[in-house]
Amino acid sequence: MKILVYCFLILFLALSCKKDGVEANEDDFKTTPYDFPFISNFRTFVDDPQNPLTNEGVDLGHYLFFDNRLSKDFTMSCASCHQPENGFSDPKRWSIGVEGLPGKRHSMSLLNLAWSKQFFWDGRAATLREQALSPVTDPLEMNSDWNTVVERIQAVPTYREKFKKAFNTEAVTSDLITKAIEQYVKTLVVYNSDFDKAMRGEKELSVAAKRGQALFNTEKADCFHCHTTPELLVHGSTTFMNNGLDLIDNPNDFSDWGLGGFTGKSSDNGKFKIPTLRNLRATAPYMHDGRFSTLEEVIDFYNQGPKFSPSLEPIMIAEANRRVLEFNRWGLGITEEEKKDLIAFLESMTDNSYLNDPHYLAPEPLK
Ligand code: HEC
Ligand code: HEC
Repeated sequence: MKILVYCFLILFLALSCKKDGVEANEDDFKTTPYDFPFISNFRTFVDDPQNPLTNEGVDLGHYLFFDNRLSKDFTMSCASCHQPENGFSDPKRWSIGVEGLPGKRHSMSLLNLAWSKQFFWDGRAATLREQALSPVTDPLEMNSDWNTVVERIQAVPTYREKFKKAFNTEAVTSDLITKAIEQYVKTLVVYNSDFDKAMRGEKELSVAAKRGQALFNTEKADCFHCHTTPELLVHGSTTFMNNGLDLIDNPNDFSDWGLGGFTGKSSDNGKFKIPTLRNLRATAPYMHDGRFSTLEEVIDFYNQGPKFSPSLEPIMIAEANRRVLEFNRWGLGITEEEKKDLIAFLESMTDNSYLNDPHYLAPEPLK
């Protein structure tokens, strides 16, 4: 009897193998959905049906993100200005492009962008694949052209195989290159900082960080009005604001118009995307123009109170006016001790564990 069962089992296995063999036929294009981590303290990640994450697409994007073939003279990849060890930002105030010329904005962290809806400091790109089109041709960045890049990638047999696996075609296009990069960038996720663990009840924050959190989340330091909870938990917000960096009378006088340069509304001049506060020690310098090199300088700036300009966030004006009435001061009035606590809280949002995972690091270039 036992033998009979085994015989059936073997027959069954043999048949099912055969079936698999047929399904793996060349015409049957099949990708494997990417196993995006479930993170209980984040909002659920919603995939984009126009470019769903697949293992094959993410793998291809990983190679492209680190590939120097994307720049004119083979010297730069996306990772040159978005370095893994810097939270995928650039330690330089202004990134230097292939022609040795600096841009005028600081390269932003790419961590946890899977939840973000508008990209760049001025929000001019609506998707990450649209975003990825521009660095390749930007004269201050990679200064190449898409025909050249497509030709170079197409010429590499292993790339052709990977395009076939990811998109069922060996015909490389800029559309497919940017789709693969978008998929990879969405997987640059960090969620194991002390802050996350505290959110999930797995760990307590340090006493100093807890005091800092209380300052952050109340009118005392008044950070929470703009770095609001869901966005803070996950990524930079997709809200654009003016946090009072410059004293300006006429909205056209901002040296960088920010959101206004994209929307064409002068009332938006001076507003910028609120960036993520994750891994801050690694993502210096700070603000759209990288004007502050340390977190201490950032806190000092907020502590002085905002500089006035036409698009200054109304909540900042209201809070500063309240302080004038109540305490006769425009600034926050944070002590040296409180400054340290606030920084301890910001630092609790640091998670460097991803740097031990090859998924986040440069792969061997494809030949
Ligand atoms: C020469 C440096 C440089 C290179 C190369 C570069 N970037 Fe950037 N990146 C920047 C700078 C600077 C910004 C901010 C620009 C702005 O807001 O106008 C930025 C912004 C971004 C953003 C927006 C992030 C957000 O929060 O909105 C994404 C995404 C991004 N880059 C991805 C890429 C990808 C993908 C590549 C490769 C195809 C790439 N970058 C190549 C410097 C660079
Ligand atoms: C009115 C809204 C607002 C308030 C209040 C506010 N921020 Fe910001 N924060 C912003 C905006 C907008 C930016 C980006 C501004 C820019 O680059 O021009 C920013 C940038 C930052 C950055 C730089 C991040 C980077 O990667 O460049 C840090 C750090 C920061 N804020 C911390 C704080 C802290 C701490 C507080 C409370 C003391 C605070 N913020 C209060 C809106 C605000």
